[in-house]
Amino acid sequence: MEESQNQRRMEPPKIQRLSESVVNRIAAGEVIQRPVSAVKELVENSLDAASSSVSLLIKDGGLKLIQVSDDGHGIRFEDLPILCERHTTSKLSSFEDLQRIKSMGFRGEALASMTYVAHVTVTTITKPQLHGYRVSYRDGVMEHQPRPCAAVKGTQIMVENLFYNMAARRKTLQNSSDDYSKIVDLVSRFAIHHINVSFSCRKHGAVRADVHTVAMSSRLDAIKSVYGVSVARNLIEIEASDNDPSTSVFEMHGYMSNANYAAKKITMVLFINDRLVECSALKRAIEIVYAATLPKASKPFIYISIVLPPENIDVNVHPTKREVSLLNQEVIIEKIQSVVESTLRSSNEARTFQEQSAGQSSSPRINTSKEVNLSPMPTGSRLLKVPVHKLVRTDSLDPAGRLHAYTQIMSDRHLEKSASLNAIRSSVRQRRNPKDSLELTSVQELLDKINSNCDPGMTDIIRHCTYVGMADDVFALLQHNTRLYLANVVNLSKELMYQQVLSRFGHFNAIQLNDPVPLKDLIILALKEEDIDSECNDDDSLKEKIAEVISHWF
Ligand SMILES: Nc1ncnc2c1ncn2[C@@H]1O[C@H](COP(=O)(O)OP(=O)(O)OP(=O)(O)O)[C@@H](O)[C@H]1O
Ligand SMILES: [Mg+2]
Repeated sequence: MEESQNQRRMEPPKIQRLSESVVNRIAAGEVIQRPVSAVKELVENSLDAASSSVSLLIKDGGLKLIQVSDDGHGIRFEDLPILCERHTTSKLSSFEDLQRIKSMGFRGEALASMTYVAHVTVTTITKPQLHGYRVSYRDGVMEHQPRPCAAVKGTQIMVENLFYNMAARRKTLQNSSDDYSKIVDLVSRFAIHHINVSFSCRKHGAVRADVHTVAMSSRLDAIKSVYGVSVARNLIEIEASDNDPSTSVFEMHGYMSNANYAAKKITMVLFINDRLVECSALKRAIEIVYAATLPKASKPFIYISIVLPPENIDVNVHPTKREVSLLNQEVIIEKIQSVVESTLRSSNEARTFQEQSAGQSSSPRINTSKEVNLSPMPTGSRLLKVPVHKLVRTDSLDPAGRLHAYTQIMSDRHLEKSASLNAIRSSVRQRRNPKDSLELTSVQELLDKINSNCDPGMTDIIRHCTYVGMADDVFALLQHNTRLYLANVVNLSKELMYQQVLSRFGHFNAIQLNDPVPLKDLIILALKEEDIDSECNDDDSLKEKIAEVISHWF
């Protein structure tokens, strides 16, 4: 009995054909992995339809509603019945077309996938039509005949109740709060590349859009508008190209952050032949350059657009079209890496520090609403979030050593007052150090010797360093540009006192000693000095007596 059961267990399981609906739902789950994947497909469809404006409305992180409206060429009435069937597309007819495809879509799968995991409603109007049509889809087919409706130019697609039939996925996504920020991040990336298209992305119920761009004249303006001034002002333009078929053929244009920019996470926006893609090898290559050149915590912002002949790129390598494969990828990456490296090196030599101040107009606003966390600004642009007690003084030239001087807005009156205070201070300093009155040639010689021996590099470090703190009892940590130095404070103080004594020689102020020296001792000392000068040698007891008598007089 047991033996026959075992035998049955050894039999291979029967292979059966899956029903079409199961196949479609499995495929759909692969194409639409989370709300942001549906948004990417819809925005790409709008861009493929030659739109000049794309607006998004998102409810509940995209699970309740994703609505994308564009002003593109619309969808023909006759195509509506097969619009959401799998493998129906207007962008490709033969496999060879894939080799020179310019559109982002080509599989005819995105809309179909959405109808297997959500409720999809399409409203569209084409140029010759007097009115639009609206139709809803489920599982790839129309739920009813297209209904005439009022419509503005273009297409509006609503995706509702995403993953309504995939309980496990819906559950995991419901608990995750960052889907809306992922959508905002995605739209921001499109917005800085397609600068002749206006984008807007708004949360349902919110008055303000989280991404809002109008067609821009320059890429830098677009970056400024989307990621903020603090990012844009720290960007350097980069270019690279190669036109040798034996190595690589490409053109690259972009913007990369300089040495002043610091963020905790890398932001890399990469477009290859106008496709928003990811390339982990290129990302790693760039991260290596930044990590080797800048302090560890600084991660870059980089926007790169690469254009290469369509036949040198395979767009059909990833189910969500997130990655592409390039001919001579290693060579292209190496060339881009070396351009980034040399640009960063030269920018690092001219590094400047930005003071943090609450009055800076360019700083992002402090917003108490939740939405501020969702904005795509990299950490580097959120300087105001640093707790006040952690702010560091970054300008060694400013005499005010207290932190609050940097965190409070200085009124004009305050500035005037401090300017006049500085003038008084410098005149007092001049009076104390009357350089012209230095008459002793021996002292002057010593000072000249110091000046001729001084090392200009070292002087610059001491003059422009930022004091970080004491490392131990003797060594202080100083920052100069991007380098950190340990300075022996005891030796530095000795040298400072020595040079002060020389330059103020003959003009010392009165020095009050903590324990006054007895007058009698001083007189004895003076008498002994006199002895040395006059070479006379009286005995010590006589000197002590004289000293006692004189000190009684005072
Ligand atoms: N916003 C839109 N405006 C005009 N036509 C659209 C729009 N969205 C979709 N279409 C039409 O619907 C077709 C199917 O779209 P779908 O996204 O499913 O496939 P695709 O874009 O051709 O390929 P892929 O699956 O790779 O995205 C498209 O080929 C296009 O003709
Ligand atoms: Mg598509």
